[in-house]
Amino acid sequence: MKIHHIGYAVKEISSAVRVFETIGFSVEGPAIVDETRKVIIRFMRNDTTLIELVAPSGDDSPVSAHLKKNGPSPYHICYETPSLENEITLLRENGFIVFENCSEAVAIEGRRVAFLHNASIGIVELVQA
Ligand code: NI
Repeated sequence: MKIHHIGYAVKEISSAVRVFETIGFSVEGPAIVDETRKVIIRFMRNDTTLIELVAPSGDDSPVSAHLKKNGPSPYHICYETPSLENEITLLRENGFIVFENCSEAVAIEGRRVAFLHNASIGIVELVQA
């Protein structure tokens, strides 16, 4: 699978945007509030590398816990797959646990995504190609 984006947990979007701009990234599209996941998302690109800034939209956001524990940091890599269901089955057979099954991601044009966890490599996101 090809890498689609790297997810970065940040406390606040605009200050993170300014820093990434100084190291060669440009914003791609507007900031989007994902009400379901309680996060604010903004994509930035540097050539073929896409990063997803993810900031909490409230104290009860799942990203808040990560930020408290680790500070601002990359926390997932998203891979693009031609078949979300088949890939999930394969990864489950290889020690991954699904913690968010196929659902639409408002920040990626409603494309379906899933989140999985593996004890050795952490969080992996899959997006339907
Ligand atoms: Ni992501």
